[in-house]
Amino acid sequence: MGKIDWSPPEISNDDRMAMKAVIDSGWMSEGKATEEFEAALAKRIGCRHAIVMNNATSALLAALWGNGIGNGAEVVVPAYTFIASVNTPNAVGAKSVLCDSNPKTLNTEPEFMKQVLTENTRAIMPVDIAGMPIDMGAFEDFAKDNDLVLIEDGAEAIGASYRGRNVGNSGHATIFSFHMAKLITSIEGGCMATNDDALAEKVRMIKNHGTHKKEAKTNFFGFGLNFRTTDVQSALGLSQLLRLDHFLKRRNEVARIYSQELDGLVGMQQVPEYVSVHARMFFPIFVEASRRDAIDAALNRMGISTRICWPPAHMQPYHRRLFPDEKIPNSEMIGNTIIAIPMGNSTTDEEAKTVADAVKKAVGEN
Ligand SMILES: Cc1ncc(COP(=O)(O)O)c(C=O)c1O
Repeated sequence: MGKIDWSPPEISNDDRMAMKAVIDSGWMSEGKATEEFEAALAKRIGCRHAIVMNNATSALLAALWGNGIGNGAEVVVPAYTFIASVNTPNAVGAKSVLCDSNPKTLNTEPEFMKQVLTENTRAIMPVDIAGMPIDMGAFEDFAKDNDLVLIEDGAEAIGASYRGRNVGNSGHATIFSFHMAKLITSIEGGCMATNDDALAEKVRMIKNHGTHKKEAKTNFFGFGLNFRTTDVQSALGLSQLLRLDHFLKRRNEVARIYSQELDGLVGMQQVPEYVSVHARMFFPIFVEASRRDAIDAALNRMGISTRICWPPAHMQPYHRRLFPDEKIPNSEMIGNTIIAIPMGNSTTDEEAKTVADAVKKAVGEN
């Protein structure tokens, strides 16, 4: 059996030609191609502003600064997430406060956040885990009732929708990532989507040294750094965006095969009724904690590439010292039992069946 990659990118001839055209044009830094990518993203998401940056971590920082989150503020984030959601509030001088998540859906919920609110809480940053949308209406109500800034970490969820509404079409900030393993890639890249004109204006300044493209380049009107992307990468992102619906369809078909083949054998992420489209950025399966590493190793020996995404934030080697006394039971259970199996834009039905057979074998023998 050949090796099956965890999340291989799908780069078409059109993608290559789009990048080459920008290189040949003589202008490769952020410019016209990025404006086109932003306009196409805003149209696809259905939002007023899509502001492209060099990665989603920068977009999270810009969204925090743009919302005035800094010194003394507490920001509630789930312990079960990719570490950027936890590092970014700390990086702007705020403090990340960890909450638990639903062990069935892997997403956090307002009830879990409520348990860790203090008088210093200023913002909440829920995450669409594996590209499955959170139930946003509940978070919008929760944020409003408690006077909190809401930033959605949708890094894994471009193309997803809930209750018929696209993730990113909202009054708050939603962050997307275009890293190579995501649904569409610009190699490294990210964006902030919002319908809030004032926030969009601030974030455009923050990503560009505190100035605005239309202003003279030597005048700086606010705080900012350089989170710009390149037009070469935006040309790739735009070309990939044209195939987003195809990628969503493919991934959901692979997920259907996994769900059918592995039903009853391993645990899987439950998809609530409110989810209209799951982006399926990765596909987690759950096995007993005591057998997880052996099953994972057996899959790797069979040529199936996997990821343990992720130990929860408070269990990470660096972060243990930041959260020494935390006990976050659901997140720990998820982190101890998860294996993410291959899921890519070009994963075929045959590959999905091969992976499912390998999981059956590995679970049976370990
Ligand atoms: C939930 C989450 N947030 C943030 C990020 C950071 O994205 P980037 O790698 O584009 O900075 C990722 C990327 O894996 C992610 O999965």
